[in-house]
Amino acid sequence: MQPTISTSFLSQHDRDAMKLLANDRLFVLTGAGVSAESGLATFRGSGGLWNGHRVEDVATPEAWDADPELVWRFYSMRRRDALAVEPNAAHFALAALEDQLADRYYLCTQNVDDLHERAGSRNIHHMHGSLFQSRCVECERPFGDRSFYETASTLPKCRDCGSPVRPHIVWFGEIPLDMEGIYAQLDRATVLLVIGTSGCVYPAAGFVRIARQRGIRTIYAGPEEPENAEAFDEIILGAATEVLPKLTLK
Ligand code: APR
Repeated sequence: MQPTISTSFLSQHDRDAMKLLANDRLFVLTGAGVSAESGLATFRGSGGLWNGHRVEDVATPEAWDADPELVWRFYSMRRRDALAVEPNAAHFALAALEDQLADRYYLCTQNVDDLHERAGSRNIHHMHGSLFQSRCVECERPFGDRSFYETASTLPKCRDCGSPVRPHIVWFGEIPLDMEGIYAQLDRATVLLVIGTSGCVYPAAGFVRIARQRGIRTIYAGPEEPENAEAFDEIILGAATEVLPKLTLK
């Protein structure tokens, strides 16, 4: 069945259809599109991060082995960019929804920035890691880190064992964090709401099919249809800051 497609200039009928029920259990998946209106580049498309950088040079274990300085320069730049921006209306709308739904709300983000937290979200899982954490390649314990490492002589070493410290980011070829916890949440949800992701990076792009098999409601919001559009029940075309503030409880 084809998804229902509407625009963010919603009629009253569409707004009513989009409402969540007070006893819904909401699983939200966000992607780079949610932070786009704060001024952070998405990955794909013109102006995207993967237009100016080759994934294989900066975001794979092989890249790290070949040139840790280049990798750290890339993530230091992203730290600078993320520190310079503020959460937008979409981040705030999701935090407000969490206030209403409390423990019936779960946010899984592919984003490594901290804009959801800065908008007040609490129950949040960064499946692709966190920009403001680093970890020793041996001890593997993540720790908070807002430093910039841009030259070979400043690359960080573990205080305990002296091994190199890497960004706490899930690179291509690595397994996203706590997949078991994510699937447990997906199993309990009654609505899956996906926002601002191109739907081409797995396993996140596969959540909608799992939700579909369970028969729960699936909604996508973003300015264009994602690659996995056919798997959604409803698609709302519009920017995250236009659509999300209109999402309310019945
Ligand atoms: N509001 C909502 N969505 C938007 C907006 C906006 N204002 N602007 C752009 N988008 C949408 C685009 O239409 C696109 O579908 O955001 C999506 C961004 O897609 P990608 O750049 O592919 O980002 P994402 O899907 O989050 O990437 C997934 O890939 O590179 C890896 O690990 C990285 O987490 C990332 C993963």
